[in-house]
Amino acid sequence: MAPQPTKSEASSGEVGASESTRSRAELIRLLNEDLAREYQAIIAYVVYSQVLKGAQYMSIAQELETHAAEELQHALIISKQIDYLGGVPAVVPLPVRTSEDPEQMLRFDLENEVDTVRNYRARVRQCEALSEYAVAEHIREILVQEQEHLIDLATALGETPPTIT
Ligand SMILES: [Fe+2]
Ligand SMILES: [Fe+2]
Repeated sequence: MAPQPTKSEASSGEVGASESTRSRAELIRLLNEDLAREYQAIIAYVVYSQVLKGAQYMSIAQELETHAAEELQHALIISKQIDYLGGVPAVVPLPVRTSEDPEQMLRFDLENEVDTVRNYRARVRQCEALSEYAVAEHIREILVQEQEHLIDLATALGETPPTIT
C-alpha cells in the first residue's frame, strides 16, 4: 500500500499529498473491481465456448475460446498494475450468469463487455489524472480488445454494437 500521510503532514495543511494518497487507494480499489470482472469474463468464456450448441454458433464458440485466453492476459496485466501501485490483487470473481439458451448466453457476455468498456474508459481518465500514464497505456491496450469482444458478440447476435455512454 502507498504510505499513509503522517499526523504532522495531515495537520500541516499538505492536502495535496493526502488527497493523492486517497486517490491512489481509490484507483487500487477500482482496479480490483476490474480484476474481479476479468475473472468473471475468463470463467464465462471458458464455459460458454464449450456449451454453445448449434451449427450457427460454431464460429462464435471458437471466437469465445480466443476471448477466454485474452481475458486471462488482461487479468495478469491488471494484477501487475495493482501490485505496482502497492495494492493486493483480489481473488474473487464477480458472479457469472448462465443460461441454457445460446442467445441469452451471448447477451450476458455482451452486457458484461459493455460494462467492462465503460469502466476501462473511466479508468484511463482516472490513471491520467494521477499521472499514471503507463498504467493508463496498459488499460488502453486492454480496451482495444474489449471493444473487439463487444463487436464480435453484437455481430453474432445480428446487432450493431451498442453506444456506450
Ligand atoms: Fe478483459
Ligand atoms: Fe472482454
